[in-house]
Amino acid sequence: MSYTSTRENRTPAERLGEIGGSSRFVRACLRQPVDRTPVWFLRQAGRYMPEYMTVRQHHSLLDICRTPDIAAEVTITAAERLDVDAAIIFADLLLPFTPMGVDFEFLAGEGPVIHKPIRTLDQVVALRTDRVDELSYVARAIEKVVAHFSSPRPPEGPNGNPDQLGIIGFCGAPFTLASYMIEGGSSRNYIETKRLMYASGTPSRFGLTTEPGAPPSRGLIAKGGGPTASPVGYKGWGIEPEGSTISTTSSPDSKAWPLLMEKLVTVLTGYAQQQVEAGADVIQIFDSWAGALSVTDYTEFCLAPTTELVRRIQAMGVPVIYFGVDTASLLPTMRKTGVDVIGLDWRVPLDTGWRSLGYTCAVQGNLDPITLFAPSEVLKSRVDEILRSAAGRSGHIFNLGHGIVPGTPVENVIDVVRWVKEFKLS
Ligand code: CP3
Repeated sequence: MSYTSTRENRTPAERLGEIGGSSRFVRACLRQPVDRTPVWFLRQAGRYMPEYMTVRQHHSLLDICRTPDIAAEVTITAAERLDVDAAIIFADLLLPFTPMGVDFEFLAGEGPVIHKPIRTLDQVVALRTDRVDELSYVARAIEKVVAHFSSPRPPEGPNGNPDQLGIIGFCGAPFTLASYMIEGGSSRNYIETKRLMYASGTPSRFGLTTEPGAPPSRGLIAKGGGPTASPVGYKGWGIEPEGSTISTTSSPDSKAWPLLMEKLVTVLTGYAQQQVEAGADVIQIFDSWAGALSVTDYTEFCLAPTTELVRRIQAMGVPVIYFGVDTASLLPTMRKTGVDVIGLDWRVPLDTGWRSLGYTCAVQGNLDPITLFAPSEVLKSRVDEILRSAAGRSGHIFNLGHGIVPGTPVENVIDVVRWVKEFKLS
């Protein structure tokens, strides 16, 4: 199948049936056979790249994100410079905060700062979920990237296939976004976030709509609300409706966490929908800080809303990648969300991580980004080790275990791409 004529107009059924198509990246997400392992990098368009820094001299990070021409240019430049198999749209995790009514800015050296952190039920109640349209600049940027990459790339060798570069849209996971809103920025101990989580009591109210251990099937409609239900109801993941007398705690803020989760899922669903309609082939959900949670807390407070978000995005007809850092012990529980691909950080050997998922989904990863500072022979040996441990199984996407950091030599990143492309399992 060629994406050129149908990419923007595919129905969910067409996407589900044909989506793997001629994109080795998308095929790998769906664990279909590929001619070689696809490769792209977390934060591939970032401060390590001189082209990006030139753009940054004239524009703030948020200006770049909010100007479709510039966001598209930055996205395209990085993908072409590195010659990777997928382009992730240049945006930021926190963009949905603005239409929700949460002001923030990026301060040099400090990262994001949220001026009035969200810590009470009243503040959560005041969060807006009806202005997702204001994020449409991201969809406009995706359209431009889709148009740019509309033609398949030529085969890489005499036996190769033409390849359609994959286009990745993304959003944050409910937990990770909530942690920024509540802490007011990056955090070490997540005290306020966990305080609000725990205030909701013992979470019988967070009952899952699926049997534990049984990933939902693609497009399965959640109890009480399908992918098109609007707004998302609490019942979507078995949480009691607002006003319910069922509560396991008397704290006035006991409803704050479930309501915050619900509102985030509503906004993120709409945001992902815009990106898919604009032509994103895959959506990646960043739960970067999920590793701060125990398995019990993840299961009780985050699994159900995340599962609901995953289902709603899959029902749009695209595969979902779910990524977090420091997640080795959480992997089997993250798998219960039913995602297509799980991003592994570098602390877990690739095969150990994949085995802990029962090889039931694709995996993405997992080179330590700091290895990109190592001499060539060390770097190459780590790349080979990851590819060997994937053992030629369908469903491995080569990536880092977290984002490229400033100062990384671009030529080392380009070497990694070449080695992944040349690798042969012997
Ligand atoms: O190619 C790409 O991946 C770039 C697109 C992208 C950005 N942010 C641009 C950005 C993506 C995918 C993100 C996601 C994002 N944003 C995450 C999840 C990814 C992860 O690393 O786990 C998170 C946690 C954020 C929030 C955020 N944005 C933080 C904590 C920071 C500060 C980081 C720092 O080192 O200062 C940002 C800023 C940011 N977002 C930068 C970029 C390229 C760097 C700052 C800049 O250009 O001024």
